[in-house]
Order: sequence, then structure tokens, then C-alpha cells
Amino acid sequence: MLSRRGDSVKKLDNDAFVNMRSGASVLEADSYGDKVLLLADGTIVKLFRRKRWLSSAAWYPYAKRFADNAASLRRLGIRVPEILDLFRIPSIERDAVRYQPLPGRTLREIRREALDAGIEQELKEAFTRFVVSLHDSGVYFRSLHLGNVVYTPDHEFGLIDISDARIVDRPLRKYERARNLKRLQGIEGESEWVDLTSVVDAHRKRREARV
Ligand SMILES: Nc1ncnc2c1ncn2[C@@H]1O[C@H](COP(=O)(O)OP(=O)(O)O)[C@@H](O)[C@H]1O
Ligand SMILES: [Mg+2]
Repeated sequence: MLSRRGDSVKKLDNDAFVNMRSGASVLEADSYGDKVLLLADGTIVKLFRRKRWLSSAAWYPYAKRFADNAASLRRLGIRVPEILDLFRIPSIERDAVRYQPLPGRTLREIRREALDAGIEQELKEAFTRFVVSLHDSGVYFRSLHLGNVVYTPDHEFGLIDISDARIVDRPLRKYERARNLKRLQGIEGESEWVDLTSVVDAHRKRREARV
């Protein structure tokens, strides 16, 4: 968690924040306020509420986890947004990460078009292979659902919303692979996007290939 060059946290006073967000549109918000902003310059700012001290978010802020995970995932060859800045914004009690959006749109956004274009099945199979490759690389992506996966113009998959991803330096175990699909399986219209058997069997196939 040592601060590396380029990802030090900058403190933004309220004027600077108001200035940054002028002309921005709100991409996501909840009852606590804005969560994701699209700035006038086309970059995205994701805001995280600062948690009470004593919680893990106080000593390892989500914005920093987002940036660290981006670096780790990129090293594994997985497409992620390019991190530009980390901010602390005391006036609104938020931490923030600013990034260049990953080119492309989320699978949730293009699902309908994929169906109309008759490429839905093909896309689902490619998505299942992507999930297997994440697991083989040791990536446990807790927020795995179609709204957090981007399909890029060059037909690759990438991840956004990565602050709670976990990366271990070994392939995931069978039960971890199965557990990682639980959330997706609970979402109507998205559960059939991943073939559970292929994902769980991938673990066995890897083992057999080794002996
Ligand atoms: N890197 C990105 N590339 C493209 N769109 C993005 C990107 N990051 C966020 N978005 C857009 O912003 C929305 C919310 O981002 P996300 O980080 O998933 O927020 P939330 O915490 O609300 O789920 C996404 O559904 C997507 O439409
Ligand atoms: Mg999300």
C-alpha cells in the first residue's frame, strides 16, 4: 500500500470540486447523493463516502483500492479504466477516483442489441470464457454482473467498478469460482449469461492438464 508515483491522493477544496464538476452529468446516484459523474472533459469521477474511523475503508479507502486494483488487473492483461487522479474532498466527505472511461459499453447496455443482431449466444460464450480466464488469473470479481463489464470496440471484455475485486497469485479454487457467480445468478435476465458448468469445470480441466 505504499504510495507510488502518480497515485498520491490530492486534497480538493470545495471551490476546486465545484469547478471540476461544472458541466458534469450524473451517471449514477443514490439516496446519499451522486456516485458517478461524467465530467465535461469526458473523464469519469467515482465518489466514495468516507466511512467512520475504525472501518477498513478509513485505513484503505475505496478510491485507493480502485486504483491499486486497476494496476494489478492491467498487469494481468485485463482491460480496466485508466486511472488519472485520486482525490480527497473534505467538504462533501468523499474520496474520489478520476479515470478515463474504458472504450465501449457495458454488457447490460448492449444486451438488447446483441439479441437483435443475433450475436447473443456468441457473446455469452465469449463472456463465459472471459470469466474463466479471470478465475484462472486469480481474480475474484465480487461485483460480477453485466453492468460492471464493458465490451470494447475491439471485441474484448473489460472491468469497471473494481474497488472490491480481489486478486490472488494462484488460480481460484472450485468453490471460489462457483461462489463468484452467485450474485450474477441472482439477477434476472443475466444469470444465463455465464455457463456455470463450464466455469466450475474449468478448474478440473486445468488440474487434469497439469498431470
Ligand atoms: N470505465 C467506464 N467505461 C464506460 N462506462 C463507465 C465506466 N465507468 C462507469 N461507467 C458508466 O457509469 C456507470 C456506473 O459505474 P459503476 O462504477 O459501475 O458505478 P456503481 O457503483 O453505481 O455501480 C456504469 O453503469 C457505466 O454506464
Ligand atoms: Mg457498477
